[in-house]
Amino acid sequence: MEKIILDCDPGHDDAIAILLAAGNPHIDLLGITTVAGNHTIEKVTRNALSVCAAAGIRIPVARGAECPLVTPQMVGEYIHGDSGLDGPILLPATYELDPRHAVDFIVETVMTHEPKTVSLVPVGPFTNIALAVRTEPRIVERVKKVVVMGGAYTRGNVTPGAEFNIYVDPEAAEAVFRADWDVTMVGLDLTHQALATDELQERVRAIGGQISDFVLAVWDFVGSTYQKQYGFDVPPVHDACCVAALIDPDLITTALADVHVELHGEWTKGTTVVNFRDIPGMNHTNGVALRQTDFRTSVALSLDWPKFADLVVDAIERLSAPVVNR
Ligand code: RIB
Ligand code: CA
Repeated sequence: MEKIILDCDPGHDDAIAILLAAGNPHIDLLGITTVAGNHTIEKVTRNALSVCAAAGIRIPVARGAECPLVTPQMVGEYIHGDSGLDGPILLPATYELDPRHAVDFIVETVMTHEPKTVSLVPVGPFTNIALAVRTEPRIVERVKKVVVMGGAYTRGNVTPGAEFNIYVDPEAAEAVFRADWDVTMVGLDLTHQALATDELQERVRAIGGQISDFVLAVWDFVGSTYQKQYGFDVPPVHDACCVAALIDPDLITTALADVHVELHGEWTKGTTVVNFRDIPGMNHTNGVALRQTDFRTSVALSLDWPKFADLVVDAIERLSAPVVNR
């Protein structure tokens, strides 16, 4: 059983990540923390509660950072719409927010669980995670692993080099990559393999019911914006890849790298500069020799898409089953 805190900015793909985390028996979803990203903190927090209402789940939701650490706020309305989760009916919350700020929720949860038992899964800008590290540095040694959706080693989706979650708060991302904990970077290179294909959508449609309808409405809307913005035939399910990788580590392949975030380039700010350990002649960065221990970020390379699709379908089936059978 993997105990996780899902830090997110729902967000269409965040919504699927919540369903996968709540529906899979290998995940103990300790809480959902929200961060401004795809839309304002008000909207993404409301959306997180709406996803929980749609799924009939009662997971603590703690509201987080209203804006990035330094960089002016940018939202992803061009993909996620005015509500941040356009398409599906957004049900009203069925329970109150956790009274704690997301950062306090993260710190208290990590500090009150046994060391190396709680993993953090940031799938929006990393603002809350960076603030938590600065608030209580001891979480770094206690957290089991950090599986982030963000970055890319081939190309970005906001600029040629920068992916949205990193671009929105590059300073927070650099703080997360510099902390001495076990980070897995699930970037666009991986998540663009996790497509909500027609086949997958038909499998979800065959389940039927409220959650199936919700997911199909999510993919229908974000499929239209992804087609318009990026020319995708079907939408990528970015954030769920992080949860899937925690459910079944064999679902992805990774390679060790030294990862830095560009903070100053006029054209490159937010780019993840990924220096893979096994590339000959790259055992240095900016003229500084790298130790083997510097190559400590596991960067995701390839995805077992059929296994990924099965996990998504299974989670929706489990959540759709009558409560007595879950
Ligand atoms: O670049 C994709 C990421 O940005 C995903 O997490 C999506 O939800 C948006 O936050
Ligand atoms: Ca997200």
